[in-house]
Amino acid sequence: MQYGVAYYPEHKTEEELRHDLKLIKESGINTVRMGEFAWCRMEPREGVYDFDWLEDVVNELGEAGISSILCTPTACPLSWMIQKHPDILYVDNRGEKRPFGGRRFYCYNNPAYREYSAKIAEEMGKRFGKNPYVSGFQIDNEPAQEASGRCCCPTCAGLFRSYLKKKYKTIEEYNRRSGTIFWGQDYGDFEEINPPVNTIEPSAISRVPAYFENPTLRLEFERFSSDAQIEYQNIQADILHKYTKAPVTTNGTGLATNSIDYYKSTKNLDVYAFDYYPGLRDRTVDSFPYAFARGIKDGKPFWVLEFMSGGGHKFGGNGRVQPNPGALKQAVVHSFAHGADMMLHFQFRTFPFGAEQLNYAIVDMDGVPRRRYYEMKETAALLKKLAPYGQAAFSNRAAVLVDYDTHWALRIKPVNDPAFKYLDYAGKLYQFLENAGYNADVRGFDADLSGYRLVILPTAFVLTRAMQEKLRAFVKNGGVLLATFLTSVKNEDNVGYTDTLPAGLTDVFGVTVEEVEPVFAGDNPTPVRLKTSAGNLETIDSLWCDLLKGEAEAIGEYTGDYKKGQTIVSRRAYGEGQAYYLGTNLEPEAMTCLLGDLAREAGLEKNPVIWKEKVETVHRKLNGEDYYFVFNFTGRDTAVGLARPLKDVLTGEVFERETPIERAGFRLLTAAV
Ligand code: GAL
Repeated sequence: MQYGVAYYPEHKTEEELRHDLKLIKESGINTVRMGEFAWCRMEPREGVYDFDWLEDVVNELGEAGISSILCTPTACPLSWMIQKHPDILYVDNRGEKRPFGGRRFYCYNNPAYREYSAKIAEEMGKRFGKNPYVSGFQIDNEPAQEASGRCCCPTCAGLFRSYLKKKYKTIEEYNRRSGTIFWGQDYGDFEEINPPVNTIEPSAISRVPAYFENPTLRLEFERFSSDAQIEYQNIQADILHKYTKAPVTTNGTGLATNSIDYYKSTKNLDVYAFDYYPGLRDRTVDSFPYAFARGIKDGKPFWVLEFMSGGGHKFGGNGRVQPNPGALKQAVVHSFAHGADMMLHFQFRTFPFGAEQLNYAIVDMDGVPRRRYYEMKETAALLKKLAPYGQAAFSNRAAVLVDYDTHWALRIKPVNDPAFKYLDYAGKLYQFLENAGYNADVRGFDADLSGYRLVILPTAFVLTRAMQEKLRAFVKNGGVLLATFLTSVKNEDNVGYTDTLPAGLTDVFGVTVEEVEPVFAGDNPTPVRLKTSAGNLETIDSLWCDLLKGEAEAIGEYTGDYKKGQTIVSRRAYGEGQAYYLGTNLEPEAMTCLLGDLAREAGLEKNPVIWKEKVETVHRKLNGEDYYFVFNFTGRDTAVGLARPLKDVLTGEVFERETPIERAGFRLLTAAV
């Protein structure tokens, strides 16, 4: 595993550089990431390049056995570029230009900026592409982060029109498919179309608070903007690929920003990489982002290019508090257990200046190594011992399916907002299954489902005809499918299906949706009786209600209100498999029971480490042997029950019925004999 830090040699005096490089070399880490904001040092004047300072550091680290991830610096356009081409500046959905002075204030479609970016990528490729100490390239920094993924400048508006024209060919076809007849919005020409005022961009604000726009236009703008950023990134990726065999990628924002479709954006990248900043003080590190990351490139290992390092003076968020002693080490092993093969802390030494002054780092501003530094050192040593287990395979037979069209469509037309968030909900289902004792993969709609026995489809609001057929085939061939409320409501144009819901799948589920409504907490929750393998469970509905009717077996029934006796959870044998429709969300215990029953029915192998709140088990397989990484996030020492005796791989201890795990600790367990 590559393990290390981000570092900013361009900030340092010679004395500081000597000091820091010595500490870095002594720490045992093997990777340093550099360069992403250093364009003004790399190209101080237009066309004049200077990489000597960076090459010196790369070589010095390399000779000490530390490789470098080099970043193209395009997140920060230079002052002279903006002077010369003011149209480089990003324009938000209110028409406001983002001025020079922060970062990510560029339009990714701007031709001049694309040219500058291509040139600097070319120069970096030429200079470092074959440097043996460079183990990878990062393009830009966190594309779309800080609300920079939905530019609305005149260049973007023009390209958006061309995108629509290319896709729909005639304006009549566009009008028909998007339903512009509603509120009399027919267009006479593509030239009349403007980007929508509203976007899903985090922190985008509408000019007019209630402005209801065409949902097709809105979804198309999300797709167009995502594609444009992918195109921008790929200009650099193609150039770097000409000069290097080292992996080329960018640092995505995982499940945070969601303005770029990562299933598409990583096609031309060698690895999926993302940045992750979970709290590390008595908090569970949510593993859903890791499962998502692993699924992006069909189970290939992923990179975490930035990860939390410590607490300190930061203004807000998780990063204000210090990690528990042991939590950095635990978090690194946790990412490794979930399939990361690179993890770099942000960052080595606290910045004294700039917008992120006094922010967290491994070493404080004074450069004195303290506990976080020593813990990083211990972690680097531990990773050497764990290295063989990085080869272990994931053998999950359950998958949670997610999709950007649905994610965007549910933001465009929110359902029970803010209680319901699509990706959070997908994460909850993943977690309920884990609570029942089973690990899952997270996959996009393009995934090959043949290796899975259980597929969980959270709220697939937009479902194409092709996807309906794929799900049908999955069940027919023996799979167990669980779809939740609001499945197959709209087509790919973000227009409602006019056939009965769940559109195209009523025969598979054996139900039709008879009546729908949101369920607001504390307002109209209704009691439900759920049949489970452990007997009947009394629970209540939440978030949404798709009232069901049909031939399918009712395994969940309302027991109150006018809904009494009506079906809310159904099960139907279809072909060789089983199709379940969950018309609502249930309380955690009921959800866990339901998912456990489905996993058993699908023949999944249960983890022998008995689930406990805030303790996570990750199952891997190596040379036919099972390995279980177990993480204690409870914030205190704890003991975890075992269904059979297991041995600690690192200490050799054998545990019969339970294993103690210290606060912020972990164990790697395998069969005792
Ligand atoms: C990331 C960003 C870094 C730094 C960090 C601070 O989102 O990529 O450059 O700003 O946050 O936590």
